[in-house]
Amino acid sequence: MIKFNNLNQEKPYQLLKKKYDEAIDAAQENIEAISISSYNQDINEVDSRYVNLKFISNDKFIFFSNYNSPKASSFNSHSQIAALVYWPSINVQIRMKAKIKKTSNEYNQKYFFDRSEKKNALSISSNQSKLIESYSQVQENYNKSLESDNLKKCPEYWGGYSFVPYYFEFWEGYESRINKREVFDMIDGVWKQSFLQP
Ligand SMILES: Cc1cc2nc3c(=O)[nH]c(=O)nc-3n(C[C@H](O)[C@H](O)[C@H](O)COP(=O)(O)O)c2cc1C
Repeated sequence: MIKFNNLNQEKPYQLLKKKYDEAIDAAQENIEAISISSYNQDINEVDSRYVNLKFISNDKFIFFSNYNSPKASSFNSHSQIAALVYWPSINVQIRMKAKIKKTSNEYNQKYFFDRSEKKNALSISSNQSKLIESYSQVQENYNKSLESDNLKKCPEYWGGYSFVPYYFEFWEGYESRINKREVFDMIDGVWKQSFLQP
């Protein structure tokens, strides 16, 4: 589930919420899964991965991750990203483009404090995406963290990312194949709405 706080009143956000509610009614699983594509300028490579979108607060999309991970390096080198969701239960795809940045340390500390200690132990103990000898070593590191770390204090290498899309495309698939593609493009502070051919 995604938590919506004080959702932005503009059209693309209201349409996103409408589609989200329809997908929930259609029992969509993993509805919070969102693909984030990034470009790392230093190694000239594009990469994608799913994360769990936790909040849409007004116009900000927020997820959490490791600040030393490959995705973090990409965001540092090139802050523009593409985000993607697909909800098969209603056959809707939403494409977004945005610039991404870290949430504040204060925000991270509060979020971490309120999370389960088990989740926190994993965030603390995992050097995300770095090589490790074996899977059992991962479990050992996790158990050590559970026993001996301060599980209420967010480490500086972990926290949130937020992005505010400047482009949305809603794709709705129909049986007729006459699919609908509706675009919202932020131009000079105003959402410009248009349609694309399928
Ligand atoms: C459905 C799903 C949700 C995920 N959610 C997160 C998440 O919220 N944060 C995170 O760091 N990784 C999450 N992951 C793992 C990432 O996809 C990825 O493996 C990890 O963040 C390392 O990515 P990187 O090497 O590009 O930095 C999730 C994976 C899946 C399949």
